[in-house]
Amino acid sequence: MDYKMKIAGGIPLHGKIEAQGAKNAALPVMAASLLLKDATLRIHKVPRLHDVITMADLLRDLGADIFYEKGEMSISIPEELSWETPANLVRKMRASSLVLGPLLARCGRAILPLPGGCSIGSRPIDLHLKGLSRMGATIDLVHGAVHATANGLKGCRIYLDFPSVGATENLLMAAVFAQGETVLENTAREPEITNLVQTLKAMGAIIEEDGTGVIRIQGVDELHGEEITVIPDRIEACTYILAAIITGGEVEVTNIIPQHIDSLLAKLEEAGANFTVEQDRVLVHPVKRLKAVSLKTLPYPGFPTDLQPQVMATLSLAEGASVIQEGVFQSRFLHVSELNKMGAKIELQGNTAVVTGVEQLIGADVNATDLRAGAALILAGLAAKDETSVFHIGHVWRGYEDMDIKLQQLGGRVEVIPTEPLSTKVNGAVRKEEA
Ligand code: EPZ
Repeated sequence: MDYKMKIAGGIPLHGKIEAQGAKNAALPVMAASLLLKDATLRIHKVPRLHDVITMADLLRDLGADIFYEKGEMSISIPEELSWETPANLVRKMRASSLVLGPLLARCGRAILPLPGGCSIGSRPIDLHLKGLSRMGATIDLVHGAVHATANGLKGCRIYLDFPSVGATENLLMAAVFAQGETVLENTAREPEITNLVQTLKAMGAIIEEDGTGVIRIQGVDELHGEEITVIPDRIEACTYILAAIITGGEVEVTNIIPQHIDSLLAKLEEAGANFTVEQDRVLVHPVKRLKAVSLKTLPYPGFPTDLQPQVMATLSLAEGASVIQEGVFQSRFLHVSELNKMGAKIELQGNTAVVTGVEQLIGADVNATDLRAGAALILAGLAAKDETSVFHIGHVWRGYEDMDIKLQQLGGRVEVIPTEPLSTKVNGAVRKEEA
């Protein structure tokens, strides 16, 4: 079944909402549970998202027993695990590749269908595989799946060609039981990496991570069960901060670690936004119109690529021309044509978008292509004149817990409506198919 979100635009948001636990922290921590044997990992503040459900189904398929209710998750891992991941689940979510490292470390084997490309570029896992090979794994590609085996991984020095978040997480987990010391260099430094390191250390791993892009892991024999809490979702929180700004509203977003969103706050200050930062929250105050600013997305602590679509929507109403460069993904601009359908004036030149601010956006029917592009279109719809329908809103549910309810709590007039399943004529017959 497919759904759209219908949005009545032009209403300033007001009120208070709490940011969810971070999707991109919860997923690797869930995968790390595979390193346990006859033990349980308890995780607090797990957001109720489609990607979390997919990861839970994947872990169950491998043999885990999972209880999950109201943000509380417990993952019990038996003595024996399967190491062959189900293609239908892996193809749904790229983050499935995060089970590769733990399975190799724990079982000495792993079979993982290559994750499909998606709307934000090809997204290979070559850096993951290169690092695992250096640790002594044998990697074969068989019918589009990675067949990895390792007779005990060996610690070594690995320099990442790019500070890949997923590669850092996979190699970190693979190194936990490796023989000797593993030194990962030029690693990703996102807060979600630190959350994973802290989780693994609480489970008994020996890891040194000082935030400089070097992580040292001493191999141990086994890990024990633990209880951890997921850090706040910095991207979701910033999405609501931007929703407040784009609608000229007054909103308090709680459950924030301010230093995790410094890059956005600095950019918003430069653009003339009006907000107050407190210990665990940000209060957004109304502002007439932002001034144009320019930015380039970079690995953390640079400006996050996961906020690029949402900031672009916000700057499409700013005074002047903003230049936005996408420095992480090869193509993350599918939201541009959709925003232009709403009257935005955005011109693409390679991996750079020039956003000439307009006075007003006009409601339209637009299509979400991935979760952050979908969020950007919702923000644009909240600010636009008249009504907007964002189709294929399922993309947004992968990363935003109850977004329609949260926006309604803030006074937004939004409604999620089922849409006709896509129907295609096949040799004259009409075949209704699940969208
Ligand atoms: C993580 O994806 C996040 N997902 C993404 O968030 C985020 O956009 C991305 O990091 C960058 O910050 C999760 O944490 C679950 P990468 P990941 O490996 O690990 C290239 C969202 O919206 N690359 O850092 O897949 C890759 O093609 C999602 O929540 C290789 O070339 O990102 C991309 O251009 C979207 N080879 C760049 O590096 C590799 O082996 C960054 O990828 C790995 C990556």
